[in-house]
Amino acid sequence: MLTPYLEKTATDVCRSVCEAYGLHQAYFAEIIGPRRHYLVGCGEPTTEQPSQLALSERIAFFWCGELPPGQRDALRERLQGLAERLEDELGAPHAPSGVTAERPLRKEARNVMPDPLTPYGNRPMVTPIVNAVNYEYASFEVLRQITDGEIDGYTYHRDDNPTVREVEHNIAALEGAEDCIVCTTGMAACTMVYLTYLHAGDHLLLFHDTYGAHYKVSLILERMGIDITWMDADGAARIDEALRPNTRLIFLETPSNPLCKIIDLRQVREAADKVGAMVVADNTFATPYHQNPLEFGADLVVHSATKALGGHNDIMAGAIACSKAHYNELWFTRQAIGTTLDAYSAFLLNRGLKTFEVRAAAMAHNAQRVAEFLAGHPKVSRLSYPGLPSHPGHEVAQMQMSRGFGGMVSFDVGGNQDDAKEFINSLKLICHAVSLGATETLICIPYLTTMLYLPPERRTTFGVRENTVRLSLGIEPAEHILDDLKQALDAV
Ligand SMILES: Cc1ncc(COP(=O)(O)O)c(C=O)c1O
Repeated sequence: MLTPYLEKTATDVCRSVCEAYGLHQAYFAEIIGPRRHYLVGCGEPTTEQPSQLALSERIAFFWCGELPPGQRDALRERLQGLAERLEDELGAPHAPSGVTAERPLRKEARNVMPDPLTPYGNRPMVTPIVNAVNYEYASFEVLRQITDGEIDGYTYHRDDNPTVREVEHNIAALEGAEDCIVCTTGMAACTMVYLTYLHAGDHLLLFHDTYGAHYKVSLILERMGIDITWMDADGAARIDEALRPNTRLIFLETPSNPLCKIIDLRQVREAADKVGAMVVADNTFATPYHQNPLEFGADLVVHSATKALGGHNDIMAGAIACSKAHYNELWFTRQAIGTTLDAYSAFLLNRGLKTFEVRAAAMAHNAQRVAEFLAGHPKVSRLSYPGLPSHPGHEVAQMQMSRGFGGMVSFDVGGNQDDAKEFINSLKLICHAVSLGATETLICIPYLTTMLYLPPERRTTFGVRENTVRLSLGIEPAEHILDDLKQALDAV
């Protein structure tokens, strides 16, 4: 009865078992017999009776059904005894000529890790880094189920990856979204949005007050026949005037980068509905700790997860939180163009998310303290933080943000760029670096950094000045940051 299976490998047996019992996966535990190894299997819960299957160098017994641990151990013992008897009946292990049974070249000899999440019910406390490019299909039936979308399964990294998928679920939860699609960078996320939803002849509404690289992307989009209007976030209340019947998408940031301007999301939603446009909000500055744009009518929420979600200056990633339907559309684009995040970065991003809320709270606390200090300082000629009642968007920010107003502050130092440079050169704790949302407090001059891609005249059209600095608060004690700012401003 066992003979037909003698040429089969362990993986073939797993496949046969899955196919025979309609299982998604079957797990096999290894038993070291006196002369060779045996595999004892445990499948997904089913009411089937126990059955046996065998394989070449090894012998597998398949038990259908989940057993309580005590019974499972008893079964193991019984099967081990049976294995020893069968070994006597079968004689010497079968092996290809010239290859010993101890060093088989068969598939099962490879060090293939079983799914670490489920055997015996113990689960790792961290998300495993699954660095696989491809996955061995359990059966043609499983292949069909994956490709027909009946089950979540993994086949090729550009399509999907379990480490990435885990982080997607976690970001979706933070944004109150049905799902989330994660990709290689924040700009990749923005570009995926444009590529997914815009067609030649569509009109795109962009705000000057968005991260500088959008300008570069806009040049590419124009080449592809997209019509683009740029407007100042200060005039967002009059957005109706900029919309057209063919406006397909409105992309905005609130608070904006770098001037922390506030846009009323509900107002934009109302205007967009009149022309059937989508509203996409970049929530990088606010973070989902303080603001969930989907609640206020945004269709998609974009993140540079490089920033506060990752939080440690050690990964680049992008994320789009959205409905399941949008996830499917964006997934198609990601799969097609290959902007899937690598598993190691996904792991680090997931690790960052574990402390995200405490970090976001600390950053906002520090930002509020710093903004209140800077508000009265004679060397600060202009200040923007939505948590200050003097900020023109404070009321709207109070309505759509909660638990604080984020960790970003921008201000002008003295009267010219040399003043700003002298101030930054005098800082001892705060780091002169781009990026934001990290554990360390970071400062930069947007005119020379994030806005550098824009032609000089465009850099200043919406309020950025040559001496404007952008401060991203970290999680250091507020007093240390305040002391550093005080002494550096004194030096100007
Ligand atoms: C608000 C905002 N959105 C998007 C991006 C782009 O993100 P990434 O650098 O991860 O591509 C940035 C980068 O600084 C940003 O500040």
